[in-house]
Amino acid sequence: MRRMFSLKGKLALVTGAGSGIGAAIAEAFADAGARVVVTDVSAGSAAEQAARLTRKGGQAESMELDVTQETACEAVAAEVDRRFGRVHILVNNAGVGHVGRLLQTTTADLERLWSVNVRGVFQVTRAFLPRMIAAGGGAIVNLASIAGIVAVRDRLAYTTTKFAVVGFTKALALDHAREGIRCNCICPGRVETPFVTKMIAQYPDPAKARAEMEATQAIGRMAEPREIAAAALYLASDEAGSTTGTAMIVDGGWTAGK
Ligand SMILES: NC(=O)c1ccc[n+]([C@@H]2O[C@H](COP(=O)([O-])OP(=O)(O)OC[C@H]3O[C@@H](n4cnc5c(N)ncnc54)[C@H](O)[C@@H]3O)[C@@H](O)[C@H]2O)c1
Repeated sequence: MRRMFSLKGKLALVTGAGSGIGAAIAEAFADAGARVVVTDVSAGSAAEQAARLTRKGGQAESMELDVTQETACEAVAAEVDRRFGRVHILVNNAGVGHVGRLLQTTTADLERLWSVNVRGVFQVTRAFLPRMIAAGGGAIVNLASIAGIVAVRDRLAYTTTKFAVVGFTKALALDHAREGIRCNCICPGRVETPFVTKMIAQYPDPAKARAEMEATQAIGRMAEPREIAAAALYLASDEAGSTTGTAMIVDGGWTAGK
């Protein structure tokens, strides 16, 4: 019998996979038998992660991709098609954060977050979708956040963009379900990655900020990137054939109740 959650024979592309959650997703997919195209705005970190997966016996390639550059998104989609063939799984993981309420958020801050977290997801998906439809379908997994389900205090711009990612996910799922496209998003709470480490360092008392962040989750700790990668593996797999348009919460119980 075929192993559950096997990605054997699949080609997956992950954005922002040079670090944190994206790197863990690339690793989980390679471990499950997929060939993975590791992309990041930092070509060096993408190459480093792909080399790490190859050393472990996985199949991985790396490419530079800045998701804010529309022509680059289209060029990468065309190049992947030419060099590696059909993409079955697309993970829109690249994302950036900002700490602040409205009056600590400039228009430039909002635009920086919007260009990566929303326009980036839009542009990358727009570049790959026609090829995925033509090839008979595929799975798209977007990294939203628990800030796309409930507002997170002092994260006005981030919350705004992540609500948009959840909306984008549901609209795309609805529009393309009959063409074999499934589109879901994951809504993590706090995950121990460089994203969070950098954010904590911005607080006047980083140790206190960390303790408070850990306490927001009912489990009393942050999630590990591999725990988010496990959700991505399920959503990308054929076992999730009936799962589309969902926002899967992996928040350590943060929003389960007060
Ligand atoms: N860490 C958390 O607690 C947490 C919680 C909820 C959601 N998320 C989301 O998960 C995703 C990954 O977060 P992470 O914690 O692994 O972050 P991270 O900062 O560790 O990694 C993000 C990666 O994205 C890349 N990136 C940044 N801008 C890019 C661009 N324009 N084009 C391509 N790549 C770009 C970075 O180079 C980096 O390698 C993000 O969308 C984030 O919003 C994270």
